[in-house]
Amino acid sequence: MLGHVLRSSLLLLLPALSHAAGLGTGPTSCDQLPTGAVSGNVNYATVVQFQFDVPRLDGMGNERKCTDCHIGPGAGTWNLRLDAAVSYDQLVNQPSTHSGAPPRVRRGDPNGSLLFWKINCDDPVYGARMIQDGPFLTLAQQALIYDWIKVGAPQESLMVIGFESR
Ligand code: HEC
Repeated sequence: MLGHVLRSSLLLLLPALSHAAGLGTGPTSCDQLPTGAVSGNVNYATVVQFQFDVPRLDGMGNERKCTDCHIGPGAGTWNLRLDAAVSYDQLVNQPSTHSGAPPRVRRGDPNGSLLFWKINCDDPVYGARMIQDGPFLTLAQQALIYDWIKVGAPQESLMVIGFESR
């Protein structure tokens, strides 16, 4: 019981600490995700990659998706390709192109991962919120990416029950 209470308090503190770590300032104007259990039912291809590929409608009826910009044949926008062939390798444990930024995806630490800042915060410190000029991901879609990073950013499908809380 005591262990549980301590663990919960630590989890509340951790995001604030990791935002501050080594940066001085963290991202601001971030959306508050719904609290609840982190989903351990994560499949990179169908859950995470899907978010990069699916077109979203902007306010003017145009369809926009991550891979409009973040795609080959060269390095892709800002040296980050989000097409299925290479996105995982370009994200997980990879340094950002912005000097001083945290890694794009730091396993187990969404609040210390630039990818999550970029989809969760109006001011992600480095550059603009994605999709650049919108539309942004819904809270549910942001939570899917948060959960994937939180459970360790697996490339294969993974099922973990009762892992962590958001
Ligand atoms: C209209 C073009 C465009 C679209 C669409 C777009 N981006 Fe970006 N993205 C950029 C540009 C330009 C940069 C570099 C400047 C910056 O960081 O804001 C960037 C930077 C990034 C970075 C930081 C890379 C690094 O190493 O610093 C991430 C992560 C990212 N985008 C993720 C996404 C995701 C996820 C989506 C879809 C939800 C998306 N982007 C959609 C143009 C785009």
